Amino acid sequence: MFKKLGIALVVAGAVVAFAHSQEVPSDFQLLWAIFAVIGAMVFILLDAKPLARLSGGKSFFAVVAFWIFIVTVCIAGASLLPQFNPEDEREKITKLLEKQRAASQQGKADELIARAKALDEQVKALEDRLKGLGGSQAATATPPPAGGKSPAATSGGGGAAGDVMKVGEEQWQLQECYNCHKLRGEGGKKRGPELDNIGTLLTVEEIQEKIANPKSFMAEGYDKEWNKGVMPDKFKDLMDPKEMLALATWLGTFKNTSVNTPKPIKKK
Ligand code: HEC
Repeated sequence: MFKKLGIALVVAGAVVAFAHSQEVPSDFQLLWAIFAVIGAMVFILLDAKPLARLSGGKSFFAVVAFWIFIVTVCIAGASLLPQFNPEDEREKITKLLEKQRAASQQGKADELIARAKALDEQVKALEDRLKGLGGSQAATATPPPAGGKSPAATSGGGGAAGDVMKVGEEQWQLQECYNCHKLRGEGGKKRGPELDNIGTLLTVEEIQEKIANPKSFMAEGYDKEWNKGVMPDKFKDLMDPKEMLALATWLGTFKNTSVNTPKPIKKK
């Protein structure tokens, strides 16, 4: 009997070790070990000496008593084991889901608020600029250009062209293109190409198209050097067409052929 109990313990140990290696939950490991021991007990019972023969009412009581004993042992044993309650699990899952749902709704709301703020600031900036433009136009319009050059042209790159350049550079800063692109040796965390020679490679319209729809042109080597598609597709919502044109015009003036701006490749 002790030999069989010993074998049972070895088997139980082996089963638990195996279950452990397969990352079976610990409750089930315990259950499997118990099965091994119960199995051994069956073998021990088979070997047990037969009871003295009972007959009549005695045998009936013996059977009933045995039945009550077994049932009590089973119920008591089972109630000692860890219990599984599907309701518990359901509660846990609902809680997890609720948290996620709340988080994603909060995230969306935050994003919308941030976007509204950004748009608001742009509207303000635009209004200021419109005021400025109105002012300067009024100023340049009052003295009639008597015979030839306007004052704006004589002052060298000033006037409307100068304003466009200013707006373009401002947009470069506002939209934080410098986060990914180096220009004039400034900015860029190596996420996107240096743009100092972009004016040689793309026309102003093409630069505009690239900003509005980043997938329209892809820099040579975009699939290796620059992680595919990381240029965000949001600028057409953040800039109005005039601002984008200004930015493209300004970028178009960068024709520094000593900088290795990768070749933009037109996508369908
Ligand atoms: C999150 C990073 C990121 C931001 C922000 C970003 N870009 Fe880019 N841009 C890239 C990457 C990466 C590439 C190269 C892959 C490709 O062509 O899409 C690229 C390519 C370009 C190109 C083509 C370069 C070439 O040689 O083909 C232009 C032009 C450009 N970006 C302009 C801009 C402008 C203007 C802004 C701001 C309005 C901007 N980018 C903002 C990542 C960015």
